[in-house]
Amino acid sequence: MEDLSPKPGDLETIETASRDEITALQLQRMKWSLSHAYENSGFYRKSFDDAGVHPDDLTGLGDLARFPFTVKSDLRDNYPFGMFAVPKEKLARVHASSGTTGKPTVVGYTAHDIDMWADVVARSMRASGVRAGDTVHIAYGYGLFTGGLGAHFGAERLGCMVVPVSGGMTERQVTLIQDFEPRAIMVTPSYVLSILDEFREKGIDPRDTALAVGIFGAEPWTNSMRREIEDAFDMHAVDIYGLSEVIGPGVANECVETKDGLHIWEDYFYPEVINPETGDVLPDGEMGELVFTSLTKEAFPIIRYRTRDLTRLLSGTARSMRRMEKVTGRSDDMIILRGVNVFPTQIEEQILRCEGLAPHFQIELTRPDRMDAMTVHVEPVAGYEGEGAREASARDLSDHIKNVIGISATITVGDPGSVARSMGKAARVVDNRAKED
Ligand code: DLL
Repeated sequence: MEDLSPKPGDLETIETASRDEITALQLQRMKWSLSHAYENSGFYRKSFDDAGVHPDDLTGLGDLARFPFTVKSDLRDNYPFGMFAVPKEKLARVHASSGTTGKPTVVGYTAHDIDMWADVVARSMRASGVRAGDTVHIAYGYGLFTGGLGAHFGAERLGCMVVPVSGGMTERQVTLIQDFEPRAIMVTPSYVLSILDEFREKGIDPRDTALAVGIFGAEPWTNSMRREIEDAFDMHAVDIYGLSEVIGPGVANECVETKDGLHIWEDYFYPEVINPETGDVLPDGEMGELVFTSLTKEAFPIIRYRTRDLTRLLSGTARSMRRMEKVTGRSDDMIILRGVNVFPTQIEEQILRCEGLAPHFQIELTRPDRMDAMTVHVEPVAGYEGEGAREASARDLSDHIKNVIGISATITVGDPGSVARSMGKAARVVDNRAKED
C-alpha cells in the first residue's frame, strides 16, 4: 500500500500544538460555549439552574464535571427545535435521526457550524491520506443522515472532486468506481462488504481499482475487519467517528500513518469518559462511556452529551490531540447472554478467524424455554459452500466463540446472500426474545 503519511506543512498548526496551547484554547472556548448555551437555550438554562450551576462556575476544564449531563431523551422531549440556541432564521440546515422507534431527534446548524464541520471532515480526510485534487466516492447516505452531506462538504473543502453516489444501487457503485477512478471511498464498513461482493460477482479484482484509501465509520468495526478490507482492496482502511448530536462525521479520525485509534479534534469537541453507573469522570486510559461537549457550535450547543459509546481516552501520537480507542460498541448494543456481556464486534472478530466464512453476519436472540439463546447467521465464502465444509465452518466458529467469549451459540451457515445486507448501518442484532415470553 502507498505511503500516505503527511508531508511537512500539510497539517494545521493546532494539530501539532503543545498540550498547554490546546487546553488554553479549550478553556476559553468552553467558557463561551457554556455561556452561549445558558443565555440562548431555554433547555440549558433550566438544566443548569436545576443543577445549581452557572457558566461562571467554570474556572478550569475540570469544573465541567459539575455541569449536568445531556441525554438522547432530552432531544426527543424537546422535539423538534426546543434545544436550539439561535432563532430559526439563523439556521442553515437540520439533520435528524431516522426515528424508526419514535420521534426523530433533530439537530441544527448555522452557516458557521457547517463551515466548522467542513473543516473537521477535511482534516479527518487529510489524516486518512486524502489530498486536494483526489476524487472521492461518497457512498454514505445523503439526506437527513449526517454521513453523506457531512462527508461531501468536507471533501469539497479539502479540494477534492466528489462523486456523491449515496448508498444503494450496488452494481452502479462498482461501475462508477471503475469508470471514475476515485482514490478514496467513504462508506460504512458493512456496505463496503456488499460492494466487495459485487466486484467479485462481476469477476473484477478490486485490487486493480484506483482506490488507495477507505474512510469507514457510522458503526463499530474491528481491526480484523480492517485487515480483511485492506487485503481485498489493497487500500488503507481508516476509522472515522462522529454522531449527529455532536456534529456528524468528523469528531475523531484515525491517522493513516499510525492507525492506532482515533484522534479527537479536541479544539472543537471536548471529550470525557465516565463511569456509566455513577457518572464519575474517569482518568485517561480507563474504559467507560464517552461524553462530549461542543466548544464552538452555535445552533445546537451540546453540553456533556452521553454518547453511550464505550471506549477509553489515550494520549496523542501522530497528533497532539488525544485519541479514543476504536469503539467496541454502544452500551445499548451489549448483549447479556446468561450473565456474559457480549458485543457484536467480538462475534465479528471470531467470524473473521474462520477461513470458510464470509464477513457478513447477523445475531439473532431468542428465548426458548425461558433461557436466552444466540444464533449467529453467517455465509460461506466461495469454495466452502458444500455441506461438509459448512458444517466444519460452523463448528470452527462455535468453538472460537465458546473458547474466547465463553458462550454457546448456534451457528447457521446459510446460502451466499442469505444474511440481510445494509446500505448504511448494519443491523447486527435481531432480538426475538420478547416474542417468545
Ligand atoms: O453515524 C455519523 C457518522 C457518519 C460517523 C459517517 C461516521 C461516518 P449518527 O447516525 O448520529 O451519526 O450515529 C452516531 O454511530 O454514537 C456510534 O454509536 C456510531 N458510530 C459512528 N461512528 C462510529 C465508528 C453518524 N467509527 C453513532 N465506530 C455513534 C463505531 C461509530 N461506532
